[in-house]
Amino acid sequence: MSKNALITGITGQDGSYLADLLLDKGYNVYGLVRRLSTPNTSRIDHIIDSVEMLEGDLTDQSSLNEAMHTAQPDEVYNLAAQSFVGTSWNQPVHTGDVTGLGVIRVLEATRHIAPDAHLYQASSSEMFGKVQDTPQTEQTKFHPRSPYGVAKVYGYWACVNYRESYDMHISNGILFNHESPRRGIEFVTKKITNEAARIYHGLSSELRLGNLDAMRDWGFAGDYVDAMWRMLQHDTPDDYVVSTGETHSVREFVELTFSSLGLDWEKYVVIDPKFVRPAEVQLLLGDATKARDVLGWEPNVRFEELVSMMVEADVERLKHK
Ligand code: NAP
Ligand code: GDD
Repeated sequence: MSKNALITGITGQDGSYLADLLLDKGYNVYGLVRRLSTPNTSRIDHIIDSVEMLEGDLTDQSSLNEAMHTAQPDEVYNLAAQSFVGTSWNQPVHTGDVTGLGVIRVLEATRHIAPDAHLYQASSSEMFGKVQDTPQTEQTKFHPRSPYGVAKVYGYWACVNYRESYDMHISNGILFNHESPRRGIEFVTKKITNEAARIYHGLSSELRLGNLDAMRDWGFAGDYVDAMWRMLQHDTPDDYVVSTGETHSVREFVELTFSSLGLDWEKYVVIDPKFVRPAEVQLLLGDATKARDVLGWEPNVRFEELVSMMVEADVERLKHK
């Protein structure tokens, strides 16, 4: 019989790739969507008739309980969050409510209504923040550097605590940055490829950025949702770093993007203090040995391929503007 999966955050980048993956595997997919004045389903329009949408919000316990009752999930993927680090300084209370406390609400709904479900929590390399070791592993101490990172640390420990308190099958994926053509426009990779494609087509003349020296371990979202699924298939729940093991600066991402379009990035990029953060995560580099050894997971897409995939998608999308 087909398994049921409930995905919170199905309209986001990862939710859309995960829904693709689970439908391919024959799951019945339920997706939690919040009420917006204009529906926001562009990332899942291609599968909209194959998933069952349930209205709900991570700030509203009753809607989560209701979704859990309807979906009767075998697997729960908690991907919903206020996920943009920059916004978390402007909306720290909202970020704490959704990204931190929201995890407890999902855990409570699962504990009472689907206690045998396997649960995945979207934890983050932002928890390492001001990194204490390089590369970062499951043993590296957390030192978050933003209200978002702080909220994710709360969610992480809430999951560990529910696993230990109630013997539930709960796993934290400590995922490093992962990108794709479906990435939200405010994240730096998509901002760069989108604006470079606009410049290429003569639609724009500059790209305003903050700290070009930040280093990130960037992977492909399509690879990373497979790691989420593998965690929930394993007999025992656990916590795993998911990363490529390569790190690159924002400057390198810019250079590669512009050079692939035959453009000199220095003519277009303007440093704007507005995009510099109050506290920065300077370097992220993950060691995913445990995910490889225990789950058999490996990333397929590397940095250069990721950049060209995103550039090509934006150039094509903007061709007729
Ligand atoms: P995303 O594109 O920003 O998607 C976030 C999702 O959460 C969207 O579907 C959004 O709905 C939903 N959401 C926001 N607030 C909500 C609320 N109050 N109630 C219900 N749903 C709400 O993020 P993503 O890149 O797919 O990331 C997925 C998860 O992984 C997030 O938890 C993120 O923090 C975490 N993570 C991401 C990365 C990464 O590099 N991508 C790395 C580590 C961890 P709307 O569409 O209505 O806004
Ligand atoms: N967004 C943005 N915009 N970032 C910029 C800019 C800019 O104009 N200029 C420089 N940066 C730098 C940021 O300061 C940061 O060091 C880096 O680019 C990456 O920023 P984002 O793409 O916004 O991602 P993030 O690393 O802060 O957070 C993402 O990855 C986390 C995992 O480590 C998000 O997806 C989080 O949800 C995720 O948890």
